[in-house]
Amino acid sequence: MTKPVKSPGSEPTADSAAAPGQGETLLKVSGLKKHFPIHKGLFKRQVGAVQAVDGIDFEVRAGETLGVVGESGCGKSTMGRLITRLLEPTAGSIEFEGRDITHLGVSGMRPLRRDVQMIFQDPYSSLNPRHTVGAIVSAPFKLQGVQPEGGVKKEVQRLLGVVGLSPEHYNRYPHEFSGGQRQRIGIARALALSPKLVVADEPVSALDVSIQAQVVNLLDDLQEELGLTYVIIAHDLSVIRHVSDRIAVMYLGKIVELTDRQSLYNTPMHPYTKALMSAVPVPDPRRKAADSRERILLQGDVPSPMNPPSGCRFHTRCWKATEVCKTKEPPLIPLATGHNVACHHPENAPDQEPGDTELLSEAATAKR
Ligand SMILES: Nc1ncnc2c1ncn2[C@@H]1O[C@H](COP(=O)(O)OP(=O)(O)O)[C@@H](O)[C@H]1O
Ligand code: SF4
Ligand SMILES: [Mg+2]
Repeated sequence: MTKPVKSPGSEPTADSAAAPGQGETLLKVSGLKKHFPIHKGLFKRQVGAVQAVDGIDFEVRAGETLGVVGESGCGKSTMGRLITRLLEPTAGSIEFEGRDITHLGVSGMRPLRRDVQMIFQDPYSSLNPRHTVGAIVSAPFKLQGVQPEGGVKKEVQRLLGVVGLSPEHYNRYPHEFSGGQRQRIGIARALALSPKLVVADEPVSALDVSIQAQVVNLLDDLQEELGLTYVIIAHDLSVIRHVSDRIAVMYLGKIVELTDRQSLYNTPMHPYTKALMSAVPVPDPRRKAADSRERILLQGDVPSPMNPPSGCRFHTRCWKATEVCKTKEPPLIPLATGHNVACHHPENAPDQEPGDTELLSEAATAKR
């Protein structure tokens, strides 16, 4: 991709003048939690909770793409549904354009529903099979009572063109389209009301690998043209590595590393990030030969978020884990400028607990 690297916080250029406040904070999340209660027995007593998102802090800057990555079950979709306010948070706060939206009611949320849109993972189940493409893409106008200039039909046909479909598709039904085309319909619907923030939850995971790049490139092109801000969620780095300005790595309901794309790739600090990166296939055989990175296999599954491990949640799978990792939770702190990491024994940075050197017995077998 030839996209120039955007520098968040830089002065707005003539090109970006249409989107005021480029680089400024659009969304700010503090201490955000979502615990799903688990009820059992005749009296539906609460016996525990799934700690799907357990205290995360981050911001999204206007005009950027924040990638969010982590294995399945780490809480990525829950995070996406919290920041789009499809789910009610258990704790913490969400600010959009400086306004606290954490607990807004239905009427307070109405204007926000225009500004924040979501693209879902599964283009098969997220489009109503009984509705025409025209009905699907025009639904947001009806819901919000918005009358576009030139009429809804004309605007929907324009949107279909924008996402690379034909205006003639207006009267067709979702089943007549391929997965990639359906995801384009989902994108057209998300863009209908000119949102400021688009949260895309694994937008290409359900698509053929050959189609994935096309849809990611479309999202990227639309961002440039429309001045959009993205949060793009993915379960591996291959999909988002080219389009993200910054990347947050999630593990078991926490953000464990958050930095710009370049430093994540050049100097990953969290062992989990390193393991995720070594799992990404290198497509170019010449680069593979030159790629001297160690291969780290992540063993076992993600532990249950109902009963997460003590201390650092990654300690049961980490090859660097020591006693302190079991007992003390590492805080997410900057270990280099703009590079936040939650680890006692990071890579590419000074050890935060140099006195604690004896590996846990599990750790010794974790690295291959
Ligand atoms: N509505 C729900 N009720 C109970 N548990 C849920 C609910 N939604 C998600 N979870 C649980 O929360 C955890 C995180 O899920 P999710 O956010 O979907 O992760 P990801 O998108 O990273 O795969 C999982 O253990 C999942 O089973
Ligand atoms: S804190 Fe310890 S267990 Fe957690 S990632 Fe760092 S070294 Fe591994
Ligand atoms: Mg998910």
